[in-house]
Amino acid sequence: MAQLIDGKAVAARVRADVKAEVERLKAQRGLTPGLAVVRVGEDPASKIYVNGKKKAAQELGFNSWEHHRDASISQDELLALVRQLNADPAVHGILVQLPLPRHIDAELIISTVNPEKDVDGFHPLNAGRLSLGRPGLRPCTPLGVMRLLEEAKCELSGRRAVVVGRSNIVGKPQALMLLQADATVTICHRKSDLPREVGQADILVVAAGVPELIRGEWIKPGAVVIDVGQNRKADGKLVGDVEFQSASQRASAITPVPGGVGPMTIAMLMRNTLTAATGGV
Ligand code: GUN
Repeated sequence: MAQLIDGKAVAARVRADVKAEVERLKAQRGLTPGLAVVRVGEDPASKIYVNGKKKAAQELGFNSWEHHRDASISQDELLALVRQLNADPAVHGILVQLPLPRHIDAELIISTVNPEKDVDGFHPLNAGRLSLGRPGLRPCTPLGVMRLLEEAKCELSGRRAVVVGRSNIVGKPQALMLLQADATVTICHRKSDLPREVGQADILVVAAGVPELIRGEWIKPGAVVIDVGQNRKADGKLVGDVEFQSASQRASAITPVPGGVGPMTIAMLMRNTLTAATGGV
């Protein structure tokens, strides 16, 4: 039976560390990190995510502001809001919750966020920095996965890492971070021969958004398995992108869903906001 990688516990430690640093920053420099979250429209999932981010920011002693706008907001109005936040010295981190309504060009909005306040790590400059192996703000979920691998004492150098999923938010930045840690990295997508590729993985990170896509029997015995998926089944149960029961018979360590990668995303957002407030990476 695999060791469980407890994301909730690791996320709590990250948050406690950030909180202590925020207290020091306030006492020594009179500086309070500020996070502005922009939410457009009434997407129910976005509302839940944004509430979680606001709550975490408040618990850690940050200033936080939610700018909620109606789905009918024009692109120009939203650009004006982002520029106003860029110019506001109390705002160190800006997060525009996705998805945005269809009449708004999300790429244009993301590119307008000041890259030094881009705590999501989605700005093309930060994506470029990551791909060049230079310091910069990194996307929160893959950063959280790297932290979990570190906590699980998982050796990466020279080992085979397989990432299933090639999104700009998780899969691609994840692969680049693993590469930077000297893993030999394969990225899989819908055209890949999944059983064959997965079977090679010493480290398997799955961010496909397909419930229980990865069968336990494909997994190399002893592999470390990180499941980024969070899929709601018809009966309300949350399942990952990996068949947990069978995978945990073969893996040496595995993240549960829920309680694995999920709590790490907000924790790393808090860490990124602190980084942005203290003048970068
Ligand atoms: N929507 C789903 N995940 C994310 C995320 O990590 N950041 C933002 N801004 N929007 C999201």
